[in-house]
Amino acid sequence: MHTVLNHPLVQHRVSLMRNRETPSKLFRELVNELTVFLAYEALRDIRTVEIDIETPVARTKGLKVDEPRIILVPILRAGMGMLDGMLHVLPYAKVGVLGMQRDEATAEPIPYYVKVPPAKGGEELAIVIDPMLATGGSACDAVAQLKKLGYKRIKFLNLISAPEGIARFEREHPDVEVFTAAKDERLNSHYYIVPGLGDAGDRIFGTL
Ligand code: PRP
Ligand code: URA
Repeated sequence: MHTVLNHPLVQHRVSLMRNRETPSKLFRELVNELTVFLAYEALRDIRTVEIDIETPVARTKGLKVDEPRIILVPILRAGMGMLDGMLHVLPYAKVGVLGMQRDEATAEPIPYYVKVPPAKGGEELAIVIDPMLATGGSACDAVAQLKKLGYKRIKFLNLISAPEGIARFEREHPDVEVFTAAKDERLNSHYYIVPGLGDAGDRIFGTL
């Protein structure tokens, strides 16, 4: 399932990010703010327990998040840009990282680093974060690696998706929910998303 956030506050920020004149400082802030909106939507079904509360006025019942082990998995390097936003809403989450670089000619992902603890029992919730879903190669490989490590509950959060990447991801991982801020038109001949926002890693880290 692929959910596209449809909200003026999201679209406003996506428009600012797309603008080539937006400097890295603002770009990073927008990535973090959009990540909080994505997390809000993606975590609607997070597990909770009922708790007793005593307000200054009365006793009542409330809900408390009951997810003892959430692991955030940014795909290096652009995924790091979304980490602060995720930790803002899930401050006790663990973090594992997957290093992946697209081959410039073929766009196939080249994994270069894995630092993710194996799942313990499969009840953990793994949340993969990466701003761009272009061909889908990186995201599909990341999720395949997590499944090999024993993760069964996985979600993928990204900012801009191409139809080609969505189709590939749904084919390879129909069991994993995807949340995105914008679905774009297509990929160009260099496998960049059109209209997109350019190279997300370069724009986050100022390496243009
Ligand atoms: C970008 C992006 C994704 C990938 C998406 O990373 O952050 O990981 O491309 O493309 P795909 O869907 O075709 O796999 P890139 O390889 O440019 O590395 P970087 O994050 O280090 O800049
Ligand atoms: N990676 C990016 O950073 N941008 C794209 O448009 C495609 C892949």
